[in-house]
Amino acid sequence: MAKPFLKWAGGKARLAPLIVERVRRESLAIARYHEPFLGGGAVFFALQEAGLIDDASLADGNADLIATYQAVRDDVEGVIEALGEHSRRYLARDPSQRGLYYYEVRNRRRLRRADRKAARLLFLNKTCYNGLYRVNSRGHFNVPHGRYVNPTILDAERLQEASGALAATKLRADDFAEACARARPGDFVYLDPPYQPLSATSAFTQYTSGDFGFADQERLRAAFDDLTARGVHALLSNSSHPDIHELYGDYALELVPMGRSINSDGRGRAAIDELLVSNFGRVGDASAAVPARSRA
Ligand SMILES: C[S@@+](CC[C@H](N)C(=O)[O-])C[C@H]1O[C@@H](n2cnc3c(N)ncnc32)[C@H](O)[C@@H]1O
Repeated sequence: MAKPFLKWAGGKARLAPLIVERVRRESLAIARYHEPFLGGGAVFFALQEAGLIDDASLADGNADLIATYQAVRDDVEGVIEALGEHSRRYLARDPSQRGLYYYEVRNRRRLRRADRKAARLLFLNKTCYNGLYRVNSRGHFNVPHGRYVNPTILDAERLQEASGALAATKLRADDFAEACARARPGDFVYLDPPYQPLSATSAFTQYTSGDFGFADQERLRAAFDDLTARGVHALLSNSSHPDIHELYGDYALELVPMGRSINSDGRGRAAIDELLVSNFGRVGDASAAVPARSRA
C-alpha cells in the first residue's frame, strides 16, 4: 500500500477517499492523470492504489519537493541510506542537543547529490515544527526545530512502496499553467491549489518563495475553463470562500464538511466546509473558454 511519505500543509488524506469514489462513480476512463499541485500526493497515491490510474504526470511549483520525489523514484536505496544516517545521528543526541543538529542540516544548502538533498528535505520535514514547509523570500527553508519526542525519521518500507508507485510517473517542477497545458482530451486533472484564506490569520499560502494570491486563483480559473473547453475532466478543491464560489459559479459545486473548525468572530467554533468544483457536466463545452464577463 503506497502512501504519502511527507507531512504537507493542506494534505488531502481525508478528502482522497471521496475523490476516489467520485472518479469511480463517474466511470471515468482516465487516459492520463495529472496533478499540478502535488504536495504530499495523497490523491495520487489513493487513485493509484485503487487501480484507477496507470499513467501519471505530477508537478508542483516547489522544485526541492519535486527533486525529492525524483530521488525517491530513481534511487530509493540511496535516499534511505542518507536519511538513516540523519536519523541515527539525531536520535543519538540528548533531546536538548537535537536542535543543534537540526539547524546544522538546515544550513546545508549546497548539497550536490540528489539522494542527500532528498534526505535533507525528508529529515527536516520529520523534525521541523509541525511538519510545515515554508521558505523565505530567497527560497530558503526557514521553519524552526519541532518538539517531537521520538520522531520516526526513516520509514524505509513506506519509501520503497512510494518508489514503486512513482516508477512510471513523469515529475516536473513548474507552474500549474504549464502542467494543465500538457493535459489532452480524455485525461483527468486534480487541482489542489493553496486555499483562498478564510481569514487573515488562517493564511498559509507560502509553499514557494512567491505567494499564491487572488490573481493566481483567477489564473487557475482560466486554466480550468481551458481544460473544460479542450475535453479534459477536471476536479478542483479549495476553501468555501465566497470569492471562490463566485469564480466557479458556472460549474458544479459540492460542499464537503471536513470536521475541522475555526474560531469565527467570537461566536465559538464553526465547522469548515471545503469546496469541490467539477467540470464533469461541461467537458468539451467550447463556451467555457470564453471569459465569464463577456458571456450573455
Ligand atoms: C494545498 S498544497 C497541495 C497538497 C496536496 N494535495 C496533498 O495532499 O498534500 C498546494 C501545493 O501547491 C504548490 N504550489 C504553489 N504555487 C504553485 C504554482 N504556481 N504552481 C504549481 N504548484 C504550486 C505548493 O508547493 C503546494 O505543494
